[in-house]
Amino acid sequence: STVKQPQTNYGEGGETHQTAGGDVPVMTTSQGVPVSDDQNTLRQGARGPALMEDFHFREKMFHFDHERIPERVVHARGYAAHGYFETLDPIPELTCADIFQRKGEKTPVFCRFSTVAGNKGSADLARDVRGFAVKFYTQEGNWDLVGNNIPVFFIQDAMKFPDLIHAAKQEPDRGFPQAQTAHDNFWDFVSLMPEAMHMVMWAMSDRAIPRSFRFMEGFGVHTFRFVNADGKSSYVKFHWKPKQGLQSVTWDEALKINGADPDFHRRDLWNAIQSGDYPEWELGVQVFDDEFADSFPFDILDATKLIPEEDVPVRIIGRMVLDRVVDNFFAETEQVAFCTQNIVPGIDFTNDPLLQGRNFSYLDTQIKRLGAPNFTHIPINAPKCPFHHFQQDGHMAMHNPKGRANYEPNSWGGAEGGPREAPETGFRSVQTEAEGVKDRVRSELFADHYSQARQFYFSQTEVERTHIADALVFELSKVQTNAIRERLLSHLPNIDEGLAQSVADGLGMDVPKPAKPARERVDGLAES
Ligand code: HEM
Repeated sequence: STVKQPQTNYGEGGETHQTAGGDVPVMTTSQGVPVSDDQNTLRQGARGPALMEDFHFREKMFHFDHERIPERVVHARGYAAHGYFETLDPIPELTCADIFQRKGEKTPVFCRFSTVAGNKGSADLARDVRGFAVKFYTQEGNWDLVGNNIPVFFIQDAMKFPDLIHAAKQEPDRGFPQAQTAHDNFWDFVSLMPEAMHMVMWAMSDRAIPRSFRFMEGFGVHTFRFVNADGKSSYVKFHWKPKQGLQSVTWDEALKINGADPDFHRRDLWNAIQSGDYPEWELGVQVFDDEFADSFPFDILDATKLIPEEDVPVRIIGRMVLDRVVDNFFAETEQVAFCTQNIVPGIDFTNDPLLQGRNFSYLDTQIKRLGAPNFTHIPINAPKCPFHHFQQDGHMAMHNPKGRANYEPNSWGGAEGGPREAPETGFRSVQTEAEGVKDRVRSELFADHYSQARQFYFSQTEVERTHIADALVFELSKVQTNAIRERLLSHLPNIDEGLAQSVADGLGMDVPKPAKPARERVDGLAES
């Protein structure tokens, strides 16, 4: 005899709360067909084979089988929230960017924080750089400020990014470590790349183990350009300053938190927003002109350098408040696609060779990660201002051009002809001159790798300097190849003799002969 398997039956007196009725909607297939039984496959006899005609089972399983998409190649682990940007100090004299024109105006934003090296399921308190990416849904299109919580970067040229990330992520033969810098490949690579030394100092400092996302600064890192309505341009660096203050944990605390709650940072952001304690950052800018840029002993196109705030003070122009968690982690946090090339009229790029490489990389990777060029149709990526273009078709096309024209020029009049160019108000690149010999070189001004590393080290308090030395000892003590340890140590006397000595003491080594600073041609190799 056959027995109909009951629906899950909890509760007193047989009530199940498991079936539709009243306010509880009817479950359907993705075609909208009402489902009577979501527990049992269709079979021929109680002990017989499952039937191919069970379209509900096949659809359910097929969809589950395809749930995963590739994780981000970097910054895979992240957490995001919605909020708004409010303009506090309009700056029309500097930029015609619509978002910076009117005091008190609010612009919706989506902000994703992340670690860089760890995989999607890795722990939050890794010693790592943190991503700080903000999408501004402005009235003249989406502007993405895809920054980090450290104002400089490891490398000067995008050409080295795949190498940096290969060296930082798990080693290819063994598949570990997942999210720590403590391994031979990472230290091998940076010991051969003196340009990384400034960022290495930051990465060994308390900045790389923030207490939570709410207590981090953010930086656009590169020098960008502002352009005003007259076409006059100036250089700009972007800064986010947390109203909550800047706080980190110690390494011992980080290890304990990772063990007890690897989701500590995402839980912190979720809980703060859900309890109405909305985190807030001020947006500041450092603005300077060509003449001022020329007065620096380094190249302002070099992303391993910062502009000291004593030289160019940060001017606060707005604030960002995060006040709404996502409705769905995958739809929003996972599918959001930030891209450095998403800029708006009034903001422009510079010739920073790292930034220019990034402008290629993000769109390219997102086509693979999100599967189709139409990922701008996903609500989290779509502009919130009117938009019209002739792009069409492709996988998952949600809004093809309306009407007859899908090309231009066309002679159809009025609305039938579709959108038209706006020569006066549309985006125009800053007019700049370029000259030089085609070659794989960087300007000589890129060649000082130690001054700002030293400046950063001495900007730290005594306790913070001890943390840097301790972090270097801890990390290098995990390195198994003595030559790598020695090569890395050889850079430290160029930063500070005392630092070199205390790290060497901690490792039971002598301080090696200092690495000879790069002078003329920057070719990425330590000269010794
Ligand atoms: C994410 C490339 C340097 C900040 C990514 C992704 C790629 C990438 C491919 C994954 C994007 C995705 O799948 O959606 C590069 C390249 C770089 C570079 C080629 C250098 C040449 C930097 C720098 C910063 C940065 C200097 C900071 C200023 C970020 C952030 C994310 C990210 C915050 C995560 C965005 C998110 O939350 O979805 N990068 N990156 N990257 N990158 Fe970079």
